[in-house]
Amino acid sequence: RNIALVTGGFTGESVVSFKSADFVESQIDRNKYNIYKIVILKEGWYFMDADSVKYSVDKNDFSILINNTRINFDAAFIMLHGSPGEDGKLQGYFDLLDLPYTSCDALTSSLTMNKGYSKAIVDGIRDLHIARSIQLFENSAAAEKELLTNLALPLFIKPNNGGSSIGMSKVKTADELPAALNKAFNEDAQVLVEEFVQGREFSIGVYKNSKGIQVLPATEVIPSNDFFDFEAKYTPGATEEITPGRMTEDEKSRVERIVSDIYLKLNCKGMVRIDYFLQNETSNFYFIEINTIPGQTAQSFIPQQVRAAGLNISEFYGDLIEMALE
Ligand code: DAL
Ligand code: MG
Repeated sequence: RNIALVTGGFTGESVVSFKSADFVESQIDRNKYNIYKIVILKEGWYFMDADSVKYSVDKNDFSILINNTRINFDAAFIMLHGSPGEDGKLQGYFDLLDLPYTSCDALTSSLTMNKGYSKAIVDGIRDLHIARSIQLFENSAAAEKELLTNLALPLFIKPNNGGSSIGMSKVKTADELPAALNKAFNEDAQVLVEEFVQGREFSIGVYKNSKGIQVLPATEVIPSNDFFDFEAKYTPGATEEITPGRMTEDEKSRVERIVSDIYLKLNCKGMVRIDYFLQNETSNFYFIEINTIPGQTAQSFIPQQVRAAGLNISEFYGDLIEMALE
């Protein structure tokens, strides 16, 4: 089988995409799959061989020509965070070409890339709570006033379609708000402002295999920075991460049910990762967001969770490819 391992991207997360793709490439079973790493950048789409020779991708059919041999792919393993690999654009293109891929479909990908819209869809799932938030479509004094009137500090300010905490701030006092809004609006035309939830943060992988929806052991995140920002996410040792995270049996079974419901309600495919808080006083589940192309760097959660579940990562990635091919 020829598998296109698709990486790169048009956002600040492309550096993460390259690391994720390197890790996946190092783990996939080469006896079963021929892996071609395809890089998608604004400058061009190409495959690069071991001698760094670039072969451009024919966008008509997503094939490559190597020494007069045309390589067509049986499936795409998408390891491209942010646009255009996580927001439905490549998924729609692959649908047109009838090329199977490992991720959620175009609609789910584009919807879940938008943090505000995802919350609206998962709202109503039993036992799922959502922090109060306001979605801003313009940066103005009136918007600032609206936030301070309707939400309680501290606030999280996030680019609505972002990832890896790029452009995100935690604001504790009103005078910090303008700079935080400028930073987020620099990244995105929409900004999501959420109330802070006092609680413990977790992240949990969910995927589907031939037996149905499966939930991996959750990772508990204890950042030493003020919140789990880009540096905390990708600097080894910057964050204490516990897998499986500390949850009572009650919490664990409630969380597993809620995240399975989210996977089902959003019509997910492949592996996703759901971030949530368990509120300190109540242990209530607060949905943060869902990532449909979750990071697979050496520091990322899913590889840790797969190991903690006693699964083999190479078989895990192989199963994702097989599910895409079905
Ligand atoms: N957006 C990053 C890559 C993640 O969710 O892991
Ligand atoms: Mg994210």
